[in-house]
Formats: sequence, structure tokens, C-alpha cells
Amino acid sequence: MGLINLTDKDLKLLMVGGKGGVGKTTCASSIALKFAMEGKKVLLISSDPTPSLSDIFEITIGDREKKISNEYELYGLEISSDIVLARWKERFGPEIYEVISSFAKVDYDFVDYVGTAPGIEEEYMLNFIIELVEGGKYDIVVWDTAPAGHTLRLLQLPHLFLRHMEAATKFYMGIYDYFEKIKDAVRLRGSKRTLLEIISSWEALSEKIVHFIRDRNKTKYIIVTIPEALGVRLTDRVIKEFSENNLLVENIIINHVVKDADCEFHMKRKKMQEYYMDMLENRYRDINMVTLYLSADEIKGVEKIKMVGGLLFSD
Ligand SMILES: Nc1ncnc2c1ncn2[C@@H]1O[C@H](COP(=O)(O)OP(=O)(O)O)[C@@H](O)[C@H]1O
Ligand SMILES: [Mg+2]
Repeated sequence: MGLINLTDKDLKLLMVGGKGGVGKTTCASSIALKFAMEGKKVLLISSDPTPSLSDIFEITIGDREKKISNEYELYGLEISSDIVLARWKERFGPEIYEVISSFAKVDYDFVDYVGTAPGIEEEYMLNFIIELVEGGKYDIVVWDTAPAGHTLRLLQLPHLFLRHMEAATKFYMGIYDYFEKIKDAVRLRGSKRTLLEIISSWEALSEKIVHFIRDRNKTKYIIVTIPEALGVRLTDRVIKEFSENNLLVENIIINHVVKDADCEFHMKRKKMQEYYMDMLENRYRDINMVTLYLSADEIKGVEKIKMVGGLLFSD
């Protein structure tokens, strides 16, 4: 079975996750190019702190959407956490300040403090990407995510984020118990909205994000792994956490597979890999598995990426 249906019109966001170094960027790039070759307008985003799209496509991409190919409608974007945080501050800074400053004497720097809270960055990364998806400029967004731990955390974040915003507000105001009583009564200084209305709007945003990432028609997940104990362990962990969050992994790419073993070294390696591939296949019968052979060449430049895409979508 092929990896994913390239002509699926409902599919809007494809997230590629896995441990560092297993081939996420290689696979995400190959899949994105494949969609572009089908005539779709594709945005390939990397949020991995180690810049990678630029390397594989051998052009500078950076933090503005940039056309990667002359031939296809393929665009790239490397987004750093600094930028995501800066945009978060633009979006939420005034509201947070408004909430807090209506009770306490605070500097606007307080917003920076809230921005350092765990989860904010990931939450907003998701929001940022969903806005790009919903903006309608692209037919599909392929997201080369940062290494696994990060992605997992990200998926729980809409709730964490919200809890944090509320907790920060309560904490700063020192009104834990009092809060519930006042939040719908307090009308903020210089604002038409109540505290409750502002918090509700945060809540609505969180819900929108969760809704989007759980919509199995719009969002699909691909895990890239390698046929080794470590790869299996990580896959187990990711899948468990995904299912705990009501998310479904439909595809696994098993990368670095030795194809032709013509020496003792490679025969031994192949045997080891087969053991773990069987393990994955037996464990996850409902998940579509695609293998990707370890190539002798370095995978760089559009032609090589196309070749990998061909392998991923063969048979
Ligand atoms: N099937 C493969 N054959 C040969 N080299 C590969 C293969 N998959 C990945 N690589 C190489 O392994 C390195 C790591 O891959 P990359 O896609 O950057 O991983 P990640 O994004 O998960 O960190 C890169 O140098 C890439 O070219
Ligand atoms: Mg990468």
C-alpha cells in the first residue's frame, strides 16, 4: 500500500515526527515534493531548531515562505521558536497585559515572563501552522516536526497552555479563591470585555487547535523510525501518547533498511533489522508500514528527493 493518498482533497496537514536523525526531513521533503508533482500547492515547514530544509534542498530557505522549485508549486519555511514567540507576544501580549494590569501594577515585561512558560511556544507553533493551513494559500502543509519529545509535548499543550494562562493570572493577582467569583463580573480597564471573555477566547483557541489536530480527515501523522531497539521503543512511546491524546498514527516509515546484503557485515545488520521490523509489524497491524532503503548516496537536491519520493510511494 502506498504511503498516503496523494489526491485526497480533505487532507490539509501532514505531520512527520520521530527521533532526531531518523530521516524526518528527508521523508517530509520527499512527500512534499511528491504532492507538488501531483499538481498541489505545497508548503513544507520545518520547526526543528537545526535548520534542515535548506541543507537538503541546497538553497537558503529561512523564516519567510520561499519557493523551492521552479518546476512545482513547492514552498519552504524554516520557523524558529524565536519567531513563534515573537508572534505569540504580538497576538496575546496586549490581552495578557490588560488582564493583569487591571489588578496589579505590572510592567509590560510581565508578558515576557508569561511567554517563557512551558508549552506556550509549542501551542503557538501549532496555532501558527493551523493559521497557515486555514489561510487557504496552500492545498497542503507538510510539517517536518522537531524530534519526538517535542512533538509529544506539543500535542498536550492546548490544555497546558490554557491552564497556565489562567494560573498565571490568578497567581499574579493573588486571588486564587476569589477568581471564580469575579471573573465574569470584572470589566477590564479600557476594554469592553470582561476577564471571563478574554479567558474564554483563549479557551476557544485551544479548542480550535485540538479540534483540528484530531480531525482525521484533515490532519494525518507519519512516524519515521529505524529498525532497531531504540526505534521500536520510541515508536511505542509516540503511539501510546498519541492514542492517549485521541490521535491516530496511520503511517510508519521504517527508514535505513538494508536492501542487498552481500557481505557479512550487511547480512548481520539485515538480520537485526528484520527482527525489529517484524516486531513493529506484529505490534501495529492496523498501521500502514512503508520501508525506505538506506541509500548509498547522500540525499540532497531535488532529483534525489524525487527518487526517495518514488520509493515511498511505490507499490
Ligand atoms: N534512506 C536513507 N538513505 C541514505 N541516507 C539517509 C536516508 N534517510 C536519511 N538519510 C540521511 O541521514 C541524515 C539524517 O536524515 P534527516 O532526514 O536529516 O533526519 P531528521 O530530520 O530526522 O533528523 C541525513 O544526512 C540524510 O541525508
Ligand atoms: Mg530534520
